[in-house]
Amino acid sequence: MSEAKKLYIKTYGCQMNVYDSERMAEALGPNGYVTVDSPDEADMILLNTCHIREKAAEKVYSELGRLRGLKTKRPDLKIGVAGCVAQAEGAEIMLRQPMVDLVVGPQSYHRLPELEAKAGRGQKALDTDFPEEDKFAELAARPKAKRGPTAFLTVQEGCDKFCAFCVVPYTRGAEVSRPVDRVLTEARDLVSRGVREITLLGQNVNAYHGEGPDGRDWGLARLVYALAEIDGLARIRFTTSHPNDMDDALIAALGDCDKLMPYLHLPVQAGSDRILKRMNRSHTRDSYFRVVERIRAARPDIALSGDFIVGFPEETDADFAETMDLVRQVNYAACFSFKYSSRPGTPAAERGGQVDPEVASARLIELQTLLNAQQLAFMKGMVGREVGVLFEKAGRHPGQMVGKSDYLHAVHVTAEGLAPGTLARVRIIDAGANSLAGVLV
Ligand code: SAH
Ligand code: SF4
Ligand code: F3S
Repeated sequence: MSEAKKLYIKTYGCQMNVYDSERMAEALGPNGYVTVDSPDEADMILLNTCHIREKAAEKVYSELGRLRGLKTKRPDLKIGVAGCVAQAEGAEIMLRQPMVDLVVGPQSYHRLPELEAKAGRGQKALDTDFPEEDKFAELAARPKAKRGPTAFLTVQEGCDKFCAFCVVPYTRGAEVSRPVDRVLTEARDLVSRGVREITLLGQNVNAYHGEGPDGRDWGLARLVYALAEIDGLARIRFTTSHPNDMDDALIAALGDCDKLMPYLHLPVQAGSDRILKRMNRSHTRDSYFRVVERIRAARPDIALSGDFIVGFPEETDADFAETMDLVRQVNYAACFSFKYSSRPGTPAAERGGQVDPEVASARLIELQTLLNAQQLAFMKGMVGREVGVLFEKAGRHPGQMVGKSDYLHAVHVTAEGLAPGTLARVRIIDAGANSLAGVLV
């Protein structure tokens, strides 16, 4: 047998890209590739890219610029661009950076073997179609290798919501849900390989409506209950949810499914109805408050996180004050906040009313100061409490293990001989800015 070729994948962007990178590595296995951790000796380098903000997309071009040196030294090296920048810019990438051999959009990853072969023959390989066939079905073959205790599993992809600022509906395409039996099969396989926690992924994961074994559409709640039946699977999470798709069944599941973790990412983006409307968010400030109230009634110990955009076109000081007020009222455990970035092809990019960048920066600092304070207060509030921790790996100090709490905090515990994959009760004894320390109960 000829020596295996080396594949290096660099992943940017969201968790779905992490999942996709694993699938791409698997898809290229039959072409003779094994993955490696460094670009230096790779035969092929794939950048799995993100287009969500200008900075994210520009990173790709600076990385390609750096890779030019490698390619000059080793002309046989193949360079590919996958992910959302590939989908958004297509052939444009090869024009801007002619040493790129392969460009593939997220809906065409099952075609990677042919694209790689084409690139191997010295031809440019490009595929940014939205094919009819089921990508996931064709990506389904899995090696049986052992793996770590946590895994992502994409159950829904794409978005039909068209928020005015967002590229995702264009880069990922229309909402598609995978059939229930496929999801269950993949989950059982992950568990048989050592996985104890699965995070279900979707751009609008709670809009999931996959075909069930009974031929009917199942919602996310039903899927979660079916997953919870799998022996050995200890924890289930899902992300990202849209406020409008938090139906009664899912809220009830948060309340009564023990394996579902008490942590929910529920982006709101802004606190002013005027801006929410211009963002085409299709929910109001008040409807968001009501959803949060229902969720907290069903699961009082739930921790909420969110996403915010400041400086959206026409955002005034008064609008921003309403965002700050919403944050104070909801009280988040963690949050991600961004300065609005105008994205080509989105409705908001065509409009006027751009906010002065300095004003937007000042708002971002003000918002992040509040969000950081809430996050720290939540972490300090963990001290003295008992939580579940799923241990993942050894820590930096001798005898130390690191894991994730029910609330996704990194937790350090001194516990000699504890195996990765162990789920244990831990009493939190100290809280830092980014992690907690605890002792086994
Ligand atoms: N529903 C999606 C959201 C993806 S984008 C999901 O599955 O996660 C993640 C976050 O990026 C959004 O919630 C939003 O806060 C932010 N974002 C999206 N487009 C943006 C833009 N043009 N400028 C700044 N932030 C943006
Ligand atoms: Fe983007 Fe809005 Fe869809 Fe989320 S719901 S992916 S922010 S368009
Ligand atoms: Fe980025 Fe695409 Fe994810 S734009 S956030 S990689 S869906």
